[in-house]
Amino acid sequence: MPHLGSLRCWFIIIQQTLEDCEMLSMRDIAGQRILITGASSGIGAALAQNLARQGARVIVSARRQDRLQSVVQNLQQEGLVAHMVPMDVRDPDQVTASVPQAAQIFGGLDILINNAGIAYFGEVSSISPTSLKDLIDTNIYGVIYTTQSAVSYLAESHGMVVNLSSTLSKRALPLLTLYAGTKSMVNALSDGLRVELRHYSIHVLNYCAPETETELHDNSLHDSNHPLPSPRRHRAAPDVVARHIIRAIRQERREVVANAGFVWMARLMPNVVDTIAYRRIMLPYWREPPHHSGS
Ligand SMILES: NC(=O)c1ccc[n+]([C@@H]2O[C@H](COP(=O)([O-])OP(=O)(O)OC[C@H]3O[C@@H](n4cnc5c(N)ncnc54)[C@H](OP(=O)(O)O)[C@@H]3O)[C@@H](O)[C@H]2O)c1
Repeated sequence: MPHLGSLRCWFIIIQQTLEDCEMLSMRDIAGQRILITGASSGIGAALAQNLARQGARVIVSARRQDRLQSVVQNLQQEGLVAHMVPMDVRDPDQVTASVPQAAQIFGGLDILINNAGIAYFGEVSSISPTSLKDLIDTNIYGVIYTTQSAVSYLAESHGMVVNLSSTLSKRALPLLTLYAGTKSMVNALSDGLRVELRHYSIHVLNYCAPETETELHDNSLHDSNHPLPSPRRHRAAPDVVARHIIRAIRQERREVVANAGFVWMARLMPNVVDTIAYRRIMLPYWREPPHHSGS
């Protein structure tokens, strides 16, 4: 009976070799017309750069126009094809106006990357209604509005929707519970949409990203009881994550979960993960229980 560890090793070697040789590759990035939301920083900006360098025609979108402008300028200075269409994904009117505007630039759309997102750091019991609305509007409604507006264009090109989820969507950790919850909804949207959109030959990729060194942490919504902790030192570089996503796009994968080891550990030993998370994350934040509402 072969040792399980060596079988796993062989599986990884074969998979990596196939990926390196691009034998699993199906979609050519060159020439693709790609709309990326949340591309003014972090993973979105890294995706724009890497995709454009591989010959894609990219349209970057977000709220901060000055940041979008500099992403576009840097790409155009390299002789690459990039445009910007600012929009706030929380606003359905803006999205229904901006997505067709983006599609007009290159006469259609091949790939929509739903990357715009925000995080919330704090306990479920203390989130304010405003922060909760902002989190859900951006991470869930934003994905729905943008996808709805892009479907007719993607159907024409037999295109692709790429949704940015998180490893935490597979197993929530304390103080990031609500953020993880919004990303679990993204997973559910991806699973259902993949079958609904098969009708129009639109592929759906769900990418569960690892903890990445971006502005997400510093821009997190948080409550006054929980000041943001320092970010962990070992976070993935946005460029590495972007290249991993592009490989998954080329291979038309259905889902990629980065940091799958953590997810498996949480499935096999959920109580152990609970205890470690409680000790490492919750205990340092111990405080009095909330008061009865109204008292
Ligand atoms: N960093 C991580 O550890 C990590 C881990 C797993 C998953 N992710 C996911 O990866 C995606 C990208 O995040 P990131 O890490 O690259 O963080 P980031 O640098 O903060 O980027 C977030 C992007 O979303 C945009 N955005 C936020 N609210 C928006 C709105 N209402 N309308 C339009 N755009 C909006 C921001 O641009 P504007 O402010 O200019 O609008 C920005 O371009 C997110 O979906 C995030 O949840 C990140």
